[in-house]
Parts: sequence; C-alpha cells; structure tokens
Amino acid sequence: MSKYILALDQGTTSSRALIFDQNGKAINIAQKEFRQLFPKPGWVEHDANEILSSQIGVAAEAVSMSKLKSEDIAAIGITNQRETTVVWDKETGEPVYNAIVWQDRRTSDYCDELIAQGHEPMIREKTGLVIDAYFVATKVRWILDNVEGAREKAEAGQLALGTVDSWLIWNLSEGEKHITDSTNASRYLLYNIHTLSWDDELLELFGIPKKMLPEVCDSSGDLATTSGAIFAKKIPITGIAGDQHAALFGQMCTEPGMVKNTYGTGCFMLMNIGSKPIISKNKLLTTLAWKIGDEVVYALEGSIFIAGAVVQWLRDGLGIIHSAPEIEELINSTDDNGGVSFVPAFTGLGAPHWNQHARGTIVGITRGTTAGHIARAALESIAFQTYDVLKAMEADADIEIKELRVDGGATTNNFLMQFQSDVLQSGIIKPETTEITALGAAYLAGLGIGIWSDVEQIKRQWKVKTEYSPNGDFQVEERVGQWHKATNTTSYWSN
Ligand code: G3P
Repeated sequence: MSKYILALDQGTTSSRALIFDQNGKAINIAQKEFRQLFPKPGWVEHDANEILSSQIGVAAEAVSMSKLKSEDIAAIGITNQRETTVVWDKETGEPVYNAIVWQDRRTSDYCDELIAQGHEPMIREKTGLVIDAYFVATKVRWILDNVEGAREKAEAGQLALGTVDSWLIWNLSEGEKHITDSTNASRYLLYNIHTLSWDDELLELFGIPKKMLPEVCDSSGDLATTSGAIFAKKIPITGIAGDQHAALFGQMCTEPGMVKNTYGTGCFMLMNIGSKPIISKNKLLTTLAWKIGDEVVYALEGSIFIAGAVVQWLRDGLGIIHSAPEIEELINSTDDNGGVSFVPAFTGLGAPHWNQHARGTIVGITRGTTAGHIARAALESIAFQTYDVLKAMEADADIEIKELRVDGGATTNNFLMQFQSDVLQSGIIKPETTEITALGAAYLAGLGIGIWSDVEQIKRQWKVKTEYSPNGDFQVEERVGQWHKATNTTSYWSN
C-alpha cells in the first residue's frame, strides 16, 4: 500500500496542503492565500469558489513537489476553518452567496434577541455552545432571509448547507457526498451533542430546513472518495476534523485532562474531557473532540480572540516594531512591564468573559513608560488570557492541569513560552512538528486507511522538541491580580 497522506488544511487566510510520510513527518507543503472580503463593517466573507480552487491548486502542487503520483497517496485528511458557512445549489454546484466567515458579526443583534427571549439555557444544554454570531445557525438563517429565492429553494430540497469541509468534499467527490464530521457539526448551534443528531427543536427555532443539512459522519474511517476528475486516481478521504479538534488530536491529547493551546491570530485552547460532555459553568464551550466508531470524545474549548494579532497591532497600528520577531529585542530592553497592563480586547473579550462590547485597554502608564513596557505587557496579555481560560477549564472539569501542549506561530517566542509556564506554574510542551493541525488530519486519515493501527502506535512516534518549566519564584497572585484589575476596567463597555 502507498504510505503517504495528503492533508488539506483549509484555514481562514490560506489554503495549505501537506504530504506526510508514515512516520508523521511533513515532507512538503504548498500554501496559497486568498482574498478576505469585508463588504460592510463587521462583515467577513470568502469566495467559496476561491477557497476550492486554491485548495485544489495547493494539493496538486504538494503532490508534484514531492515527486509523487496520485497512486502514491494512500488517503486524504481534511481539516478546516470552522463555522464558516457555505450554501450552494445542488443542481449547479454554485454557492448562492459568499461563504460567511466565522468572524462575521452581522447576526449579533439577532443573537441578542434570542438571548433576551430566554433561549440560551436550552441551547447551551443541547449544543454545549453559547448563542453567538460565531456559529453556523444564524449565518444560514441570514442567507435564507436575504438571498432572493433561497428559502423557497431550501425548502424544496434544492440547496445544500455546509462548513468548508462539506463544501470541499462535495466538490472533490463531484456531488457524490454531502457530509460533515461530528466536530464540525458541533459548531452549528443545531447539533445535539448528547444524542449526536441534528435537533428538530433548534432547526425549527432558527427556521432551517433539515433537508439542507449534511449527513454527519465519523472523524476517521471510510468517509468519501475523490472523483476521477480531481486526481488521476480516486483517493479515499479517511479523516475530517475542524482545525482546533485536529490540533488536539495532532498533539495526541488523547487522555482526559490533556490540553492544547494553539497560538495564532487568537488562541484556541481545548481540553480532552473524555466520553461525557460537561456543560461549562464558566462560559466555556463544550464540543466534540472526535468520534471514531463507538469512541466519542468531548472537549471543553476556550477561544481568545486576540493573541498573535496584538503583535501585529504593535507593528501595524502603533508602529513600535517593524517585524514581529523584533518584539523579543524590544522586550529585552526592559526588566519588567513597568506596572503596565494591556488588555487586547480589540474585538470584545472571548472566553471566559464574553463581553462583545469590550475595547482594548492599556492601564498603568507613567512618564517612565517605554515602548518596551507596552510590548512586554502586550505579550504578557497572551499568557494571562490563556491563564483565565485554563483556570475556567480546571474548575469545570475538576482537574488540575500539569502541562500544556502548545503550537502555532507565537510559540517561537521564547519569552512568551517561559512567561506562560511561569504564570500557569506548569510545564509547557512544544512538539517537534510545527504543523500540528495538518498532522492531526493526517493521523485521522492514516488511522482510517490503516497506515497506523491505533493511537498507541502514533504516540510512539510523537516527539517533544522543547519543554519549559516554571520559575518557582514567580509572583503568580500579584501578577494575575494586576491583570484582573486591568480586565475589570473593560466592564466600562458592558451592555
Ligand atoms: O473557529 C475558527 C477557527 O477554526 C479558525 O481557525 O486557524 O483558520 O484561524 P484558523
């Protein structure tokens, strides 16, 4: 059997394709950015056809860069930006509207109405989510209400709905399969995470015809096959997962209590909580981690909206650095933050605060404050936000976390990683492979096609690159207290 896996990692800003060998090593990567469309303030869209063409383009490029033929690829694993919503015509295959991206806020007012009407406890209990414009349901409803003829067509069964995984698989299989996996389904606000099925009461509430929904399948197994038109040989698709779930799997957080944090534009922290869903008392989300056959694993999730983006702001907004790596030098020009705290609530505050009106705040400035202090406080804010989410997870799951597995661009910053370890007073583990999300999709696909017989075999090849240990003298209480005083000031912008 051929031993290579093609992982398609369809992200918010770029489509990527990676070839992994049977040792879990990425041998080649191709990447293409695509346009971000902002038709109105707070609206974010993608051209779904551009997502598709960029993804197919990089897949072909990665295969040819590796000097492989399609028959060398044993299977495809797909991982994707979650919640981004596509509605297309089953007949023509054309989207009826641009993909509405997870960041899009156009349905915020409708969400506020639903909360005011008292629907949140029921929705939270069934879906594990909060009512927020972030998820799929209100985006679909907007399309059905605003695109001429869409609702009638949807009711007549002519339209298909999906997240990006569904859209890609529909096209890769030339309309053969309209599916999504349970991790992506658990981001709709329509999926009951206890019964593992679409929920009729919620479909009714949001006014969404069941006919348009994809069939929900496992995250690993015999899921779909590409059509002959895409690759010379038909390739099985044997792994699917939303990107944060794929990262949890790629980090091999396979036991309850294991946690990963991905430091990207924002941070997404997920904790494996085992086979029973815990509905958070601390405003975290409950989501499917993966489902493989009879094994159903749940996760708690905390999303931080601004992490690496605060460094971009220091560069593009404030102009105190010219490139992101320069921040380390600027920070080393100071010994501490000079009493400055920086709360980067540029787009509101996510978990565990969920204050969509909060704004970014810098407190504690004196005449002695330097750019170095502000830069340091900005980086520290990433670690403090992570602290808040991790503590909420520990409280919900009643587990004390001993180590955090990390991935994403900002993990190259040694100051941040050491500071994170100090604030949490726990170990930080950075794996050898930096492409953890794609690796997770490859693992799922490889398990599905039998390249690896089980998770234990994968664990044996999973390697740690760097470990950070906490400095026992770090004044956690004092520092976290200072941070919380600063975050409390953002209540100024509460409803
Ligand atoms: O929930 C949104 C998340 O899946 C997006 O991830 O990496 O594409 O920004 P990313």
